[in-house]
This record gives sequence, structure tokens and C-alpha cells, in this order.
Amino acid sequence: MSFGTKVTLNTGAQIPTLGYGTWQASPGEVGIGVYEALKVGYRHLNNSYGNQVEVGDGLHKALAEVPGLKREDIFIVSTPRYPNALMLNAGSINPLVDFQAMEYLYLVHWPVAFKKVDDVQMFPMAAEDSNEVVIDDSVSLVETWTAMTNLPKSKVRAIGVSNFSPAYLQTIIDATGVTPAVVQVERHPLLQQDDALIKYARDKGIHITGYSAFGNNAWGEPLLIENDTIKGIAGRIGATPAQVILAWSQVGGHSVIPKSVNPARIRANFQEVRLSDEDISAINALGGSPRRYNVATCYKPKWDINIWNEPKEQGAKHRVIQVK
Ligand SMILES: NC(=O)c1ccc[n+]([C@@H]2O[C@H](COP(=O)([O-])OP(=O)(O)OC[C@H]3O[C@@H](n4cnc5c(N)ncnc54)[C@H](OP(=O)(O)O)[C@@H]3O)[C@@H](O)[C@H]2O)c1
Repeated sequence: MSFGTKVTLNTGAQIPTLGYGTWQASPGEVGIGVYEALKVGYRHLNNSYGNQVEVGDGLHKALAEVPGLKREDIFIVSTPRYPNALMLNAGSINPLVDFQAMEYLYLVHWPVAFKKVDDVQMFPMAAEDSNEVVIDDSVSLVETWTAMTNLPKSKVRAIGVSNFSPAYLQTIIDATGVTPAVVQVERHPLLQQDDALIKYARDKGIHITGYSAFGNNAWGEPLLIENDTIKGIAGRIGATPAQVILAWSQVGGHSVIPKSVNPARIRANFQEVRLSDEDISAINALGGSPRRYNVATCYKPKWDINIWNEPKEQGAKHRVIQVK
């Protein structure tokens, strides 16, 4: 069973540190996954754009069928369809917002604005045969964050960001005086984020949620559950490699949102284990040569923007527009 650990955000709300992710699930899968997750006991759902309707279906089904489950027990995190200040100002927020429980958290998904072409296209393209998203350099992080701070408190209980570096965070805090409740970033044993982001976030009282805990990637490389150190620890303590990674991910009070659409894996990931200090140190030692899997210039379609200054981003046409 999960230990049911929660931590308190700078808003006073409590977030369960073991959550459930919903991205990259095929149609027909994610609603079932959400239902299974809620049935097993997950109470923190990370809702990705593009599948809100199905997530909502799973949520409704669970609320109707899981004994004792109440809306206000579920901490739901969402991101706008476009990371775009203009959309936010227009009040065009995620349709799930109206369905939200208490403790709702809304995140700026990326420090990038896409050009609004119409209300339908998730990835606006320059031309039909283009493989590149149209980035809108006229929208700054400060504008987007200001729009987030103006969202109705009746619908959005807490606001945060995702894929922001300490420099981007400092820019929006300096400009608005509003500190995000959460920063959600890629985090796993090969990208531990302890060089700068974790120290910065601790200092500012910002909670960190890690995504792609198993190193999910578009590169076809094995997931980190295949890593020998992780497998060795798992074998010794009678856990699965995924359980070892999820336990490590929460050390220090961070949250983690593993995605699975497989009911057996959804259940297994919710069975928590504790790691010894030696095992935590052994996993910490894997982080010496950081490996980032979510690099936007390598997405399909491509986002031609330098966000992290990774080698694969350095020739990008766009840079993050922090302030105008
Ligand atoms: N803010 C952002 O920009 C951002 C970016 C990426 C992701 N996210 C969020 O974070 C969530 C998690 O990240 P992610 O989806 O990239 O990757 P992840 O949680 O690392 O999952 C990677 C893969 O691991 C498999 N898996 C899960 N449990 C397993 C187990 N016990 N044994 C073996 N394989 C297992 C899953 O496949 P099966 O489904 O087949 O089990 C999944 O496809 C996403 O769903 C999304 O909600 C946010």
C-alpha cells in the first residue's frame, strides 16, 4: 500500500507525493487508467493536455463506483492546452477546471508560447507539410505568469509552472511578487536536478514534482527500471525496480507522477517501499552525468527553441522570452 505521504504547499494545501500521470496514453486507455488508479488509492492526478475528456470520464466513473471517494479528496493538476498568455487572459482554461475538486493546481506547461491558429490545433503548424510548431515570441513568461495570477480563485486554487529553470522562476517572481506553488520538471536518477533547481526551490518554498521518473523518452532507450543499480537494489529488498525509483523520487519531500495504463503496474507502483541511506546514496551516484530525455527541439513536431541550453538545443531559432 502507499504510505499516503503528503506535503504542504506554500498555499497551505496538501499534495500527495505519489501521484499518477496520464500523458502518452492511447485513446481508450487513459480513462481506464484513471479509474484504476483512483480505485487503488491514488489521490494525486496529473492531467495532460489532449486527454482531459477521457480523464474526466475515468474520474466520473470512479466517483460513482469507488466507495467513499469524494471529489475534494483528489488533488488534480492540469496545464493549459497552450502555454499562452493570450489564451489564459481570454479565460480559455481547461474544461476540467469546472469539474475540479478542492486544492486544484494549474501549471504553465512550458516556458514557451505557441501561436494561436484556431481553437482546435494543439500544435499549430506553419504549413500542412511542416514538422515544426509555430512559436509566438511576442508572449513573455512574465505576461503568462501575470495571466495565471489573475485566474479566478474560485476555479484555480494554486498556480505553478513546469519546465522552468531557476532563472526563469526568478524572473517571474521578481516581476509579479508571486511565487509558484510548484515547479514540475523531468526528474529521475539520471537527471536529479540537485545541482541548482532543488536548492533554489527549497530556498523559495516551491514544491518539486518530478515527471518521467522512469526516463520515458522518445529515443527508444531502455527505461531506467532496466538500470543495473536499480535492479540490484530491487532484487535485494524484494521490490520492483519501479518501486525503488518511486521511493527514491520522494526522498526530500518531492512528488512523483508515474504513468502507466496497465492495471497491474498501476497497482504495483502504488505499493511503496522504503530505501536505506546506502541505497539512496547508490542511486544518487547515478546522477553524475545528467541525461535529459524531454528536449523540445527533438519533439515531433519540433519546437525550435533553446530552453535548457542542451547541446541539441543550441542551434535553435527561438529562445525563451522571459520579459519584454
Ligand atoms: N510537465 C511536462 O512537461 C510533462 C512532460 C512529460 C510528462 N509529464 C507528466 O508526467 C507523467 C509521467 O511521465 P512519463 O509519462 O513521461 O513517463 P514515466 O512515468 O517515466 O513512464 C514511462 C513508461 O513506464 C512504463 N511503466 C510504468 N510503470 C511501470 C512498471 N511498474 N514497470 C514497467 N514499466 C512501467 C509506462 O508504460 P505502461 O503505461 O505500459 O505501463 C510508461 O509508458 C506523464 O504521464 C505526464 O502526466 C509532464
